Amino acid sequence: MAKNVKAAVQKPAPKNAKQVNQKVIGKNENEQKQNENTDNLNTGISASNSAGVAEALNQVLADEFVLYTKTLNFHWNIEGRDFHALHLFLDDQYHQLQIIIDSVAERIRKVGHFATGSMQEFLDAASLKEHAGNASVSEQMIAELASDHDAIIRNTRKLIDEFDEKYGDAGSSDFITGIMKEHEKMAWMLRASVPQAK
Ligand SMILES: [Fe+2]
Repeated sequence: MAKNVKAAVQKPAPKNAKQVNQKVIGKNENEQKQNENTDNLNTGISASNSAGVAEALNQVLADEFVLYTKTLNFHWNIEGRDFHALHLFLDDQYHQLQIIIDSVAERIRKVGHFATGSMQEFLDAASLKEHAGNASVSEQMIAELASDHDAIIRNTRKLIDEFDEKYGDAGSSDFITGIMKEHEKMAWMLRASVPQAK
């Protein structure tokens, strides 16, 4: 290679080791980034307040992902006399949860933070428990899903005031109100589908 061509394709050497380190995004740095206001927002909410909102929303996101996976599991494995109707019903429900998950993750980005996006992080952060093992009867599955929706409703209800009063973020308060209402609707439909599961 001619000397001048070689020089053109070679990347300039970094000025010092500190610059190199800044470009390497390790696990710790990723974790740290979750707590930083990355978009330098100037929307009237302090960096620490938006960090508090993002942390709570990432916890909601983790629970939504566990419930989404559980709803899929039951959609696949449910058995019983009402199999066909419940199979289709749970198809609707997991699609609704998919939309909720996407909107929660995008809300986290809107307040200037990164959304969790790995299964391990979801499992570490979630308060809901996964359902492992074989299928069980439909009444138990529906009751378990309704109970998980109730847990998310209780948590999001608390966040409505917390986002507004503690963090001064009326937008996130309004957003989480909408999420709570979606879960109220889904929980009602679950209970109405299998009244004996109450
Ligand atoms: Fe399916």
